[in-house]
Amino acid sequence: MTQKTRVGLVGYGKAGKAVANILGADPHFDLRWIVRRSAEPEPQTHPDTSIPVICAARQPFGELFDRHPVDALVDFSSPESLRAYGEEVRKRGITLVSAISAYAEDDLEYARNLGLDTRVMCSPNITLGINFLIVAAKLLRKAAPFADVEIVEQHFRDKPEISGTARKIAETLEVEAEQITSLRFGGIVGHHEVIFGFPHQTVRLIHDSIRREAFGTGAAFALEQLMNCGKGFYTFDDLLLRLMRTELSCG
Ligand SMILES: NC(=O)c1ccc[n+]([C@@H]2O[C@H](COP(=O)([O-])OP(=O)(O)OC[C@H]3O[C@@H](n4cnc5c(N)ncnc54)[C@H](OP(=O)(O)O)[C@@H]3O)[C@@H](O)[C@H]2O)c1
Repeated sequence: MTQKTRVGLVGYGKAGKAVANILGADPHFDLRWIVRRSAEPEPQTHPDTSIPVICAARQPFGELFDRHPVDALVDFSSPESLRAYGEEVRKRGITLVSAISAYAEDDLEYARNLGLDTRVMCSPNITLGINFLIVAAKLLRKAAPFADVEIVEQHFRDKPEISGTARKIAETLEVEAEQITSLRFGGIVGHHEVIFGFPHQTVRLIHDSIRREAFGTGAAFALEQLMNCGKGFYTFDDLLLRLMRTELSCG
C-alpha cells in the first residue's frame, strides 16, 4: 500500500471545516492537525475524529512541524498566514496548496519565490468542476472563434455583486463583461453556464455548486497531482493541463 500523504490544514472557518471533512475521510491523506486563529477554551478536535484543532498563537509553525511533521500544507485561512509559515515550508520542502482568494501582488510574488524551493500551488478558485469548465470552454473558444458566447450565472437572492468566477470566465474567453447575465433568486449556491451559439448547434457547459466540500475535492486533486511534480509554482490550470497531457496523449 502506498504511504499516505501527511497533511496540515490552516483555517477552520466555513471552507476549512468542509475541507477537513473531505481530507479527513480520504484514504490517501493523513490529516494530522488543523490550525485556526482563535483559541478555544478546551482542546478541540474536528467532529467524529481525533484530528486536533490548534490555535496559531499557541504554537508557531516551526514548532508544530517539528512535533507533528507533515508532507503538505493546505491553506484556507487568510493572506497573513503565508508569511507565518512560508520560511518553515521552504526549509522543510513541504508542499503547499493555498486557496486564498485575496492575495496582494507581493504575496503572490512571495509564493512564486517559495516555488524555487518546494512545490506550491495557489488557486483563487479551487473547485475541480469550475476549473475543468474553464479549460474546456477555452478549448472550444479556440476551435470555434466564430461562435457566439454567453455566460449565465445564478446565485442566492442576496448576493450583490457579479460572480468573480463569471468575470474570470469572460476574461479567459476574451468576451466582454456585457455577455454575463446574472440572475438572483432563492438559495442557489452557485450556477455557472457558458453557452456557445453555433449556426447549427448549441453547446452548454454547466457547473452547479452543491456544498463547500467541493473545495476539499479540489484541494485533494491538487495535492495528488503535486506529488508527481517537481519543485515550482503551479496554478490549478497547470495541474489539469498536465493531467490531460499524460492521460489523453495519443502518441
Ligand atoms: N480558492 C477557493 O476556491 C476558495 C474557496 C473558499 C474559500 N477560499 C478562501 O479561504 C479563506 C477562508 O474562507 P472562509 O470562507 O472559510 O473564511 P472564514 O469562515 O472567515 O474562516 C477563516 C478561517 O481562517 C482562520 N484564520 C484566519 N487568519 C488566520 C491566521 N493568521 N492563522 C491561522 N488561522 C487563521 C480563522 O480562524 P478562527 O476560526 O479562529 O477565526 C478561520 O478558521 C479565504 O481566504 C477565502 O478566500 C477560497
